[in-house]
Amino acid sequence: MKKKKEARKKRRRAVTHTKRKRAKKNIERVPTYIHNFDSLVEGGFEKNSTNLIVGGSGNGKSIFATQFLVGGMDKGEKALYVTFEEKKDAFYANMKEFGWNLEEYEKKDLFIFLEYTPGKVRTMLEEGGGAIESVILKNKISRVVIDSITSFALLFKDELSKREAALSLLLTLEEDAVAGKLGPQTLQFESDSIIMLYYEPRKKERERYLEILKMRGTKHSENVHRFTIEKKGIVIDKRPAAYPPYLR
Ligand SMILES: Nc1ncnc2c1ncn2[C@@H]1O[C@H](COP(=O)(O)OP(=O)(O)O)[C@@H](O)[C@H]1O
Ligand SMILES: [Mg+2]
Repeated sequence: MKKKKEARKKRRRAVTHTKRKRAKKNIERVPTYIHNFDSLVEGGFEKNSTNLIVGGSGNGKSIFATQFLVGGMDKGEKALYVTFEEKKDAFYANMKEFGWNLEEYEKKDLFIFLEYTPGKVRTMLEEGGGAIESVILKNKISRVVIDSITSFALLFKDELSKREAALSLLLTLEEDAVAGKLGPQTLQFESDSIIMLYYEPRKKERERYLEILKMRGTKHSENVHRFTIEKKGIVIDKRPAAYPPYLR
């Protein structure tokens, strides 16, 4: 009798376990289309998530961010790039080197580039809420980059904490700005993922590395991966790096 009960209990446990497993697989993913990145994170970012990409100046944050938007736009998604640091003309010219014609996407109504001057940011702060958000809603934008969050730290709380659309938000953070650490200011945004980009000296040259520090609900790669910046943008090496930055 007791044995039967035990067996039933076991069966029930097994069923719950499969259910949970299946539920997890139902998480809707947003592929970044960055070469080899998605396979490291079960297919991409979680839909409606906030993702933080951290690295020093020149480590590839803006390229990563643009590649994420271009990948979506090539599938017909609409994208918004909000920046405080990049000048439009120079930025478009740099990105064209990778074959990404942002002007064309703009003409096709797939791309909006918002360049904020410090003065404009101040006005937005004073007037309060919704300027970025209304652009997102009005234009049915599904991929948003804010480059960088360091410049928008104050705005962010008001503007995007109320975000409800099924957005994939990618924020960049200049690591130097917080003295090489993820400070409390960063953590208060409670990003769903944190991706680190490095550019480390090795022998006679530097090498680029990427690692995923955190991604909620995701069995992500726990390795450090090398990446290169090539003609088609960022290309990640799926294999664990032989010389990860902090093992030297
Ligand atoms: N066309 C290119 N081909 C190869 N590498 C490039 C190209 N354009 C830029 N880079 C590399 O990318 C770096 C800039 O990347 P970026 O994404 O702007 O950095 P961040 O936003 O982290 O400051 C440059 O310093 C250079 O090393
Ligand atoms: Mg940048």
